[in-house]
Amino acid sequence: MKKIVIASDHGAVDLKNEIADFLRKKNYEVTDIGTEGPAAVDYPDIALAACTEFKNGGYGFGILLCGTGIGVTIAANKVKGIRCALLFDLFSAEMAKAHNNANFIAFGGRIKYAVPVHEMIEKFISTSFEGGRHERRIAKITAMEE
Ligand code: RB5
Repeated sequence: MKKIVIASDHGAVDLKNEIADFLRKKNYEVTDIGTEGPAAVDYPDIALAACTEFKNGGYGFGILLCGTGIGVTIAANKVKGIRCALLFDLFSAEMAKAHNNANFIAFGGRIKYAVPVHEMIEKFISTSFEGGRHERRIAKITAMEE
């Protein structure tokens, strides 16, 4: 599905907008639910809003951002059905899909990445979930939500 939801706190607004522009140029339909500007917002609110929108359906995956990506990742993974992976290189981008079948990926606007963020996103998109034993492990995570 070429539709994604993206959201950031005040720590990554520029990176969020860069990613949204990049994906729109690749013909993705991007739902940007903010924030905009430097005014401080609480990252759990941002993560919950994005996860709630994702769960409304129709999205391929979601992208969350904060200063480090850590806060939004922790918060998103509290939401039932969400598997949010904090990416930091091409290998983590590949494994997040191949093994974890993540439905959200996260980045930090204040992190200096060795690999451009758009390359990590492209790697995540172009990788397929391997299923098999990984399906069983994800089912165990899902069971932990009950
Ligand atoms: C906000 O200052 C900062 O704590 C937030 O963006 C994020 O890095 C939290 O994990």
